[in-house]
Amino acid sequence: MSTGKLKHSEIKTENDSDKLLVEKVFSHKQEHVFRWWNDLTINGQKNLLNQLRLVDFTLLQCLTEKHIKGNKLTSPEAATLEPPDIIPIPQNDSQKARSDEAGKIGEDAIGAGTVAVVTVAGGLGTRLGANRPKGTLPISPIMGKSIFQLHAEKIHAIMNKYDTVIPWYIMTSLNNDEMTRSFFEENRFFGLNTDNVSFFTQGVLPVMDLQGKLLMDSKNSIVTSPNGHGGTLLALKERGILSNMNQRGIKHIFYHQIDNILIKIADPVYLGYHIREGAKMSPKVVPKADPEEKVGIVGIKDGHLDTIEYSELSNEEKHALNPDGTLKFGMGNPAIYLLDVDFVEKINESHFALPYHKAVKKVPCVDENGCKTKPSENNAAKFEMFIFDALKHAGKSIIMEVVREDEFSPVKNAEGKDSPDTAKQSMINMFGRWLQEAGIEIPKDEAGNVKGTIEISPLYALDAKELKKKIDHEIVFTGELNLQ
Ligand code: UTP
Repeated sequence: MSTGKLKHSEIKTENDSDKLLVEKVFSHKQEHVFRWWNDLTINGQKNLLNQLRLVDFTLLQCLTEKHIKGNKLTSPEAATLEPPDIIPIPQNDSQKARSDEAGKIGEDAIGAGTVAVVTVAGGLGTRLGANRPKGTLPISPIMGKSIFQLHAEKIHAIMNKYDTVIPWYIMTSLNNDEMTRSFFEENRFFGLNTDNVSFFTQGVLPVMDLQGKLLMDSKNSIVTSPNGHGGTLLALKERGILSNMNQRGIKHIFYHQIDNILIKIADPVYLGYHIREGAKMSPKVVPKADPEEKVGIVGIKDGHLDTIEYSELSNEEKHALNPDGTLKFGMGNPAIYLLDVDFVEKINESHFALPYHKAVKKVPCVDENGCKTKPSENNAAKFEMFIFDALKHAGKSIIMEVVREDEFSPVKNAEGKDSPDTAKQSMINMFGRWLQEAGIEIPKDEAGNVKGTIEISPLYALDAKELKKKIDHEIVFTGELNLQ
């Protein structure tokens, strides 16, 4: 898209600061962004300059050198990979006793008001293609409650149970911030006190073409994209959320992604283990569905706890077995973390420590004639930080295995695997198991799915134990049950 001819003296600007900015853009060989300068209105020119002012050109140059021109400055690949110690799902009495003990510690922390929830909801949801923030998607099996409402009801129920306050911080991005806030306002914050729900936006990065040139979204704007869920840690500091947490006496952050509809928010047992061990960042893990499942795993890489992406695992590592026949690297990462506030502060001190990862995608942009086009081939490099890269800086972590069917069912795609349909079914099946534990007979089909529909509001029961205490044990399931 380079113009070849344009000179910075041809770009007339109003003041010295704009002139310097234009020179900077030229010195980084991105002058094609001024291709339509003389056709733009004054406001159009201002818009372009304002956007360019926020671009960290030095960072872009580093990313181009490292990821686009292939001049890798990274350290050599890991020499060793070992599975980490994992707190298992309790099977025997002593494991159950330890889990109960941890649960008490976690409940005390929740009761003392030291726990906050951070939900990351800034992603574009490209695979889902819903044209609306993912959290606004109607998902509950009978009432059609949105994902946001389900999370809100869980937080509400926990606050009621422990007579406490759990501040909820929701990360959005410029693409969906307004829609998200309006959704909460229209729904009166789902009954939560507005003082305890905050929104903060994550940073964005320009999107480049495969030669490292900035892509244009229109004649007066460049394409930008959220800087990844790793951007949460930076945004928590930059948007003043850490200060707010400190003022409220928050010590522990329960981090989760908007699209996991089974998320067990602020799980006391998990909190208790994390607190007892003095851990700083702790992941939950779930068994991989099969050796080839495309999820990252948690492992000890060159002596440090780390998350290893699916693509980084060799074939032997993917299929390696323990003596008991289970997968050696069989614990997938569902992106559920506990992070201590002081750890997030530390990681933000001096300079921010998370690396950027490149994703090559099809991104709509304007062509040389200034017309918006939808590419049929990959045309763009996006850069994102990943939250799990913080793990190796934590120093101390606990890793806790949980039952996948009870805690992990993400909405990623419009259909098929990890879609709204599978999410609904996973909720129905989990409620079915709760009812069975309460002694109620629930018919299942050959695939093990409940025959019928069930919805249980978190405000009715948060788990099987609560349901058992509350439900009429004489109930007969006739194909639909809605407990609100
Ligand atoms: P995904 O990587 O699955 O992205 O994010 P996505 O936006 O939901 O979907 P695709 O990849 O575009 O189809 C996992 C979680 O991280 C959040 C998402 O909102 C989701 O909760 N996320 C992702 C952010 O908050 N910001 C980002 O920049 C990226």
